Amino acid sequence: MSHPVSPDAAEAAGARGEHVFVKSFGCQMNVYDSQRMTDLALAEGYSETSEIADADLVVFNTCHIREKAAEKLYSELGKAREIKQARAAGGKATKLVVAGCVAQAEGREILRRQSAVDVVVGPQNYHRLPELLRARGAVVDTEFAVEDKFERLPAPTVEATRARGASAFVTVQEGCDKFCAFCVVPYTRGAEVSRPSEKILVEIERLAAAGAREFTLIGQNVNAYRDAEGLGLAGLLDRAAALPGVERLRYSTSHPNDMDDELVAAHAENLKLAPYLHLPVQSGSDRILAAMNRRHDAAAYLDTVARVRRARPDIAFSSDFIVGFPGETEADFEATLGLVGEVGFASAFAFKYSPRPGTPAAEAQDQVPAPVKEERLARLLSLLESQRQAFNRATVGRRFGVIFDKPGRHEGQLIGRSPYMQAVHAEAAPERVGLMSEVEIVDVGPNSLKGRLVEAA
Ligand code: SAH
Ligand code: SF4
Ligand code: F3S
Repeated sequence: MSHPVSPDAAEAAGARGEHVFVKSFGCQMNVYDSQRMTDLALAEGYSETSEIADADLVVFNTCHIREKAAEKLYSELGKAREIKQARAAGGKATKLVVAGCVAQAEGREILRRQSAVDVVVGPQNYHRLPELLRARGAVVDTEFAVEDKFERLPAPTVEATRARGASAFVTVQEGCDKFCAFCVVPYTRGAEVSRPSEKILVEIERLAAAGAREFTLIGQNVNAYRDAEGLGLAGLLDRAAALPGVERLRYSTSHPNDMDDELVAAHAENLKLAPYLHLPVQSGSDRILAAMNRRHDAAAYLDTVARVRRARPDIAFSSDFIVGFPGETEADFEATLGLVGEVGFASAFAFKYSPRPGTPAAEAQDQVPAPVKEERLARLLSLLESQRQAFNRATVGRRFGVIFDKPGRHEGQLIGRSPYMQAVHAEAAPERVGLMSEVEIVDVGPNSLKGRLVEAA
C-alpha cells in the first residue's frame, strides 16, 4: 500500500515530541475521517493529545449540514488563534488545519475570515495532509481528488484501535446522488462511490484483530452500496458476519428507497445484524416529501417499515425529521406527527429547517417563520421523547447482548450499549470491557437502563 507518509518526517516529529489534536464536529463519517487523519499524523510521528494547548498540529474536522454547525467553526477558530499566538510567544509553532464539509464548501473564504489557518482540506483530499503540512504558506485543497483516498491512508495501529473501544466505524460508501432539496451533502461529499468489498473486509478483520467487536458500516447513503462485482450491502454484511471477532453489525444512514428485498431479508437471516434501523423520513406529508425531492411518499415509507418488521419482529426504528421546510403548513406538520404515531420510534433526531447556501430549498420564497419552526420542533420532540421513554420501559425484563466499553459512574459498574443503542449499566468485572455479555434489563432511568449480568448457563 502506498501512502504519502514519509519515514523521515515520522522520525523528525517523533524526535521533537510533537502532538496532534483532532476535533470532530459532524456525523459518523466525519468521526471516521477524524480517526483516519489521526492515523496519518501518528504515522508521521505525532502522538495524540486531548489538550489543544499542547498540540503542534490542530485539526478541526467540520460539518456544514446546518447553519449552527458551520458557525461553531469560526468561534472555535478564534480561540485556536489565541492559543497559537500564546504558543508562538513561547517559541512553539502550531499548524492549524480546517478539514471536512465546511472546508469543502467555503474553501479559501476560511483563510479570509481567519488568517491563523494554515491548511484547508476537503473530505475527499485529506489523505494528502502530510504533503499539505510541508507546504510553505497557507494552502487550500478542495478539488475532488482522482486517486483513491482509502488506498493512500495508513492502517490504524493496534494501540490506536484499542483506545477507540470495542465499537468501530467503517466507511463502505461515500457521497450522495439523491440531491434532497435541503441538503449540502451531495455538494460537499460528491457523487456516490462504493469501496471494493475486499478492502472493507480486510479493514474489518484488522479492527477485529485489535479488539473491535461491533462494526457500523457507514455511508451517506449506505444501503445504495454496490461494489464493482455487484455485491450489495446485504452480501457485504453476510461476509462481515463470518469474520472472526465480529459480534454485532449495524449500518447507517439509509435512504428508504434503497431498502431492497435482499437487505430486508438480511434482517431475518443475518444473526449478527442488530435489530435496529436508522431510516430517515424527514416528513410525513406527501406534499413536503415531494418538495424535498425525497422521491417517496409517506405510504411507501410505512410499507418499508412493515416489510422490515415482518422480517425481524423485534426491530426498532430511529429516524431524522426536519420541521419548517419551506411551505410546510400546520396540516403538513400534523401529517408528520401522524406518521410518528403510526411507526413508534425508539429514538429520533428532529431539526429545524436551516437554509443552506447553494441548495434549491434555500431559494424558496415561502420560508417558515422562526417562531413557527420552534413551536413545531418542541411538539415533535415531546412526542418523540414520550415514544423513546415508552420503548425503554418496554425493554425491562428483556435479555440481550451488551458490549461493555467503559467503567460506569459508580464503583464496580460498567457501561455499554444494547442492540437498540440504549446506554446500559450493570455491575460487572472490569475484564468484561470489550466483551459481549448477556444482560437482563431490570430498571429504566431517564437516560440509561439498569442491567443485571446473566450468568452463563
Ligand atoms: N444521508 C442521510 C442524512 C444526512 S444528513 C439521509 O439520507 O437521510 C443528517 C440529517 O440532517 C438529515 O437526515 C436531515 O434530517 C438533517 N438535515 C440535512 N440538511 C438539513 C437542513 N438544511 N436543515 C435541517 N436539517 C437538515
Ligand atoms: Fe442529503 Fe438526501 Fe443525500 Fe441524505 S439522501 S445525504 S439527506 S441529499
Ligand atoms: Fe456534516 Fe459533512 Fe457529515 S456536512 S453531516 S460532516 S457529511
